[in-house]
Amino acid sequence: MPYKDMIVYFLSGTGNSFRIATCIGKAAKTKGIKTKVLSIDKAPSGKELKDLKTSLLGLVFPTHGFTAPWHMIKFTCRLPRVKKTSAFCTATRAGLKIGKVFTPGISGTATFIIALILFIKGYRVRGAVSIDMPSNWYSLHPIQQEKNLRAIITRAKLKADEFINKLIKGKNIWLTLNNLYEIIWGLLLIPISLGYLIFGRFFLAKLFFANTNCNGCGICADNCSFGAITMRGKQDPRPFWKYNCESCMRCAAFCPKNAIEAGHSWAVILYHISVIPFSVYLLSWLDNFIPGITRLQGGWIEEALSLLYFYPAIFISYYIFNLFIKIPIVNRLFTITTFTHFWGRYREPDTRLKQISLHK
Ligand SMILES: Cc1cc2nc3c(=O)[nH]c(=O)nc-3n(C[C@H](O)[C@H](O)[C@H](O)COP(=O)(O)O)c2cc1C
Ligand code: SF4
Ligand code: SF4
Repeated sequence: MPYKDMIVYFLSGTGNSFRIATCIGKAAKTKGIKTKVLSIDKAPSGKELKDLKTSLLGLVFPTHGFTAPWHMIKFTCRLPRVKKTSAFCTATRAGLKIGKVFTPGISGTATFIIALILFIKGYRVRGAVSIDMPSNWYSLHPIQQEKNLRAIITRAKLKADEFINKLIKGKNIWLTLNNLYEIIWGLLLIPISLGYLIFGRFFLAKLFFANTNCNGCGICADNCSFGAITMRGKQDPRPFWKYNCESCMRCAAFCPKNAIEAGHSWAVILYHISVIPFSVYLLSWLDNFIPGITRLQGGWIEEALSLLYFYPAIFISYYIFNLFIKIPIVNRLFTITTFTHFWGRYREPDTRLKQISLHK
């Protein structure tokens, strides 16, 4: 057996990646490998992480925007440099079951970018796999029937078992149809993944709001891996989503009042605010003082000016939105024009919040 011990770190919003990490951990244990499965929420920082010693390191995480979540990329960058440690990467992605047919998600560059960082740090990256779990992106679509969810999960566990069993026999798992499919999509979708990392995730974070069912319990804020929610208001506290939200959907999935919505009508308004061609207006105005500056239109300076507008515009708009939704009738209006209000919430059916959260 090439490995005597293994640490699997997972990042998980709604329990899918946790479930796969646990499954991989169990399979390794049955083969006599000393195994730890740890959330990156509880990940040691600094010194502890520097002392990380294991013969096999696994990273399991969801796909966001056809690539790895930003926090997962940051975590991997914090891992210590090593010489002989082996590693593997597993991304969970959004699988569907339509009738009898299982359709795959697309994890794109998710596993490859993490594998590349590990490789640069000296790990021997033995393999990568993308595994379909039920989609938790229910701000985009309704959730599937329970029996379909279970069928997808059962299939995913088999795939995870097969992957780890091959790996611990000492095989390298790179030349697979799964990885070929992902590398092709990953390369084609790089512009979308970059757009997601630079703009998309900030925009998505600013769509969340609590409807009038919210009782201010603070469970959402206490259990966010990234501290991305603050409770605002002394008398009647309500969650406020900060810029570092990863849109992992955990807060919405585990809110005991089902109070968290990803506002669709609000998204339309926010989108229109965010695409106002601020840089064009600014350059035209500046032309009064610096004649000829409009020649910069269409170049990278205009793009940079657009970014200077984008972030403050969405943050300020969200701040104002939050003031307005304190008015019950306005809150109700945005709630009933939001699909998530009718679609229900997804979380991995057998996962409890305390298994994946930092909060004790
Ligand atoms: C914001 C967001 C973006 C997502 N992007 C993708 C994607 O690009 N491709 C994909 O197959 N699944 C995507 N998904 C689905 C999740 O990756 C998938 O359901 C994953 O198993 C969730 O794992 P978790 O419960 O451990 O967070 C996305 C989900 C969210 C919330
Ligand atoms: S968990 Fe739900 S009910 Fe509790 S504060 Fe958050 S949104 Fe409100
Ligand atoms: S605020 Fe909610 S969706 Fe955003 S990162 Fe935290 S738990 Fe996930």
